[in-house]
Amino acid sequence: MWMSGQEPDAVKRRLGEVVRALADASRASRDALNLVPSENRLSPMASSVLGTDFYHRYFFNDGLDPGFWQFRGGQSVGFLETELTKSSLGRLAGAELVNVRPISGMSAMVLALSGLGGPPGGHVLCIHPDHGGHYATGSVARRLGFGVSLLPVRMGAVDDTELRTALRTHRPKLVYLDLQNSRQILDVTAVVEAVRAESPSTLVHVDCSHSLGLILGGAHPNPLDDGADTIGGSTHKTFPGPHKGVLMTRRSELARAITEAQFTLLSSHHFAETLALGVAATEFTVFGGAYAAQTVANARRFETGLAEAGFDVVLEGGRATKNHQVWVRIGDAAATDAIAGALYEGQIRVNVQVDLPGVPGPALRLGVNELTFTGAREESMELLVQAFMVARDGDAGKVARLAQDIREAAGRPFWFEPDDGNGLDLAVAALANDHPWEGGPTVAGD
Ligand SMILES: Cc1ncc(COP(=O)(O)O)c(C=O)c1O
Repeated sequence: MWMSGQEPDAVKRRLGEVVRALADASRASRDALNLVPSENRLSPMASSVLGTDFYHRYFFNDGLDPGFWQFRGGQSVGFLETELTKSSLGRLAGAELVNVRPISGMSAMVLALSGLGGPPGGHVLCIHPDHGGHYATGSVARRLGFGVSLLPVRMGAVDDTELRTALRTHRPKLVYLDLQNSRQILDVTAVVEAVRAESPSTLVHVDCSHSLGLILGGAHPNPLDDGADTIGGSTHKTFPGPHKGVLMTRRSELARAITEAQFTLLSSHHFAETLALGVAATEFTVFGGAYAAQTVANARRFETGLAEAGFDVVLEGGRATKNHQVWVRIGDAAATDAIAGALYEGQIRVNVQVDLPGVPGPALRLGVNELTFTGAREESMELLVQAFMVARDGDAGKVARLAQDIREAAGRPFWFEPDDGNGLDLAVAALANDHPWEGGPTVAGD
């Protein structure tokens, strides 16, 4: 350990250096263009909430019961969990019952499987990881004591024959649709039809971690309208919220089942993040529609541009992407790493995956969601294609210049700017100033 055994003053000075270096790295990271499809960023307003005192507090009394203030730190703002966070998410999803206790997509998965999967010993169906399902779902379900069948998915459609056979054979309590690696829209209606015909008491849950922002922004159909019983997932992929999770339903008995499971599986739900989620969701009620449509339009422009530039773009069945993801094969691991490295040096971050469905070997799994949220339009996608072309030649300097052009080409971001008026600038600055770490602490003797 590099600090063990040192004098407190030396440790303090060293930590001061670390925090200052972190602040510098954070500023640089904030300026980078991020194409990781499972990440997004917070708006300035939502972000400012994370620096408040509520980051340190528990909040359990979501019913605002006057006799249940065992933890009082969140009492003054607790109503916002219902009136801002749940109400905005519920309005966006058309779901009255919203659970914002999960701290991430995996946490929402554990709660949904436990609450909706029935007693241990039952059976759960989910999507095969080789067909784009989340790698962990089957294993989590087995740890919870369920038998598991993995379903194939092609072009966004669950294999109907295998689904119906599994429904008749196992009478599962739950079909958990966890499509993660896909460029298509999952056909939920067909799954619901098969379930209602073959095993009517089986529940359908859609884990839309990747597509939540596209669904809540109206670019993808809402699975609840297509007959799913519950939906949920991460709030930080296409949905531009904090690292959190959510579960939503229109059926009160299912909301109760989730709450019961949650009571003993989750304690701290990260209160400041929950409030930031409320701000993000409320901004999304204004900007979400335009953002979601622009995200899909940008992904298509980017995908087409890369193909025209000679990149080996993955187009299953010749179909253009229908969401935020664009997949590109570069070559072997060394070639993939080389282009990813040149892009990184030029301040563009990409995501390498080795197990995309139908794509043996390494490939880039790219997402335009965060870039779109910050204001990128089609023009930026053309510049981005140029950046990939010069990265292919290993020219990180030219990548950096194009990254700057992309930043400058950005249009209006899909959030309220602090200078939008109405004193918002002052409100955001006041919250930001509440945060003592910007620039790192002053160290005595410096
Ligand atoms: C379908 C699905 N479920 C769960 C998760 C896990 O989410 P998190 O990383 O927020 O825990 C993901 C992440 O990609 C996902 O795609």
